[in-house]
Amino acid sequence: MVVTEVPRVIGHRGAAGHAPENTLVSIQKAFELGVRWVEVDVKLSSDGVPVLMHDDRLERTTNGTGPAGEASLADLERLDAGRWFGAEFAGEHVPTLAEVVGLLAELGMGLNLELKPSPRREVETGRVVGSVFRELWGPGLQPPVISSFVPASLTAFADEAPEFERAMLFGKLPSDWLAQVQAVGARAVHCGVKHIKRHDVAEIHAQDLPVRCYTVNDSDTAARLFHWGIKAVFSDYPERVR
Ligand code: G3P
Ligand code: MG
Repeated sequence: MVVTEVPRVIGHRGAAGHAPENTLVSIQKAFELGVRWVEVDVKLSSDGVPVLMHDDRLERTTNGTGPAGEASLADLERLDAGRWFGAEFAGEHVPTLAEVVGLLAELGMGLNLELKPSPRREVETGRVVGSVFRELWGPGLQPPVISSFVPASLTAFADEAPEFERAMLFGKLPSDWLAQVQAVGARAVHCGVKHIKRHDVAEIHAQDLPVRCYTVNDSDTAARLFHWGIKAVFSDYPERVR
C-alpha cells in the first residue's frame, strides 16, 4: 500500500492570502513561503477539461460572468484570474490541472486535490478528473490525497483511479460521518475549523483515521489543533501557523 506523507501545513488554494487562489502564481507563492504541499479545487469546463476554480460561478475570482461549468476551456483561457486580487497579478489565467501538475513536478511539491463539481456534474467530474489525473501523476511525484464534500465524485474518481488516497471533507461533522467515510473508502477526514470539537477529533482517531483541518490562519488555533492530535492544517497564510 502506498503511504501518503502529508506535512503539517498545507497551502490552501495555493497560498490564498498572498496571491489569487487556485492559480499557478499562488502555488509558486506557497513554495516560496516554504510550503511543500498545496490544496487546490478542481472542476470541469463545459468541454470536460479539469481546471482550477473554487466557485460555481466566475464572477468572484475572474473577470468573466456566469456558471464556470458552462464555460469552455477556450472561454476560460481568455479570462483574467488575477486582477481581482491585485493589479500586480493581472494576466494570471485559470490553470488546467495538467499545468498545475507540471508546476508541482517542477517544484517537487505534493498535492491535495479537492473535487469541486459543478451542480449536476458530480459523477462526471470524479470520473473525468480520475482518468486525467491518473495519466498526469507520474512516478516521480509524491502520493497525493484526493478529497471532496461530494461522495458521488469521490466514488467516481476511485472507479478510475483507486490507487490514490481519498479523504472525506466535512464542514460540521455529521452524525453518520463514519458511514460516509466507509462508503467512499476514505482513509482520512478533512474538517472545518469553525465547527470541530475535541471530542470529534477523538472519535475520528478512535477509527484510526487522520484528521486534517481547514482553514487555519493563526498560530494559536493551529497549536490547539495540533495539541488535539490533528495531523495537518490548511492555511491561506502558511507562514503564520508553522
Ligand atoms: O479542502 C479543504 C477546503 O478547501 C475545503 O473548503 O470551500 O475552501 O474548498 P473550500
Ligand atoms: Mg478547497
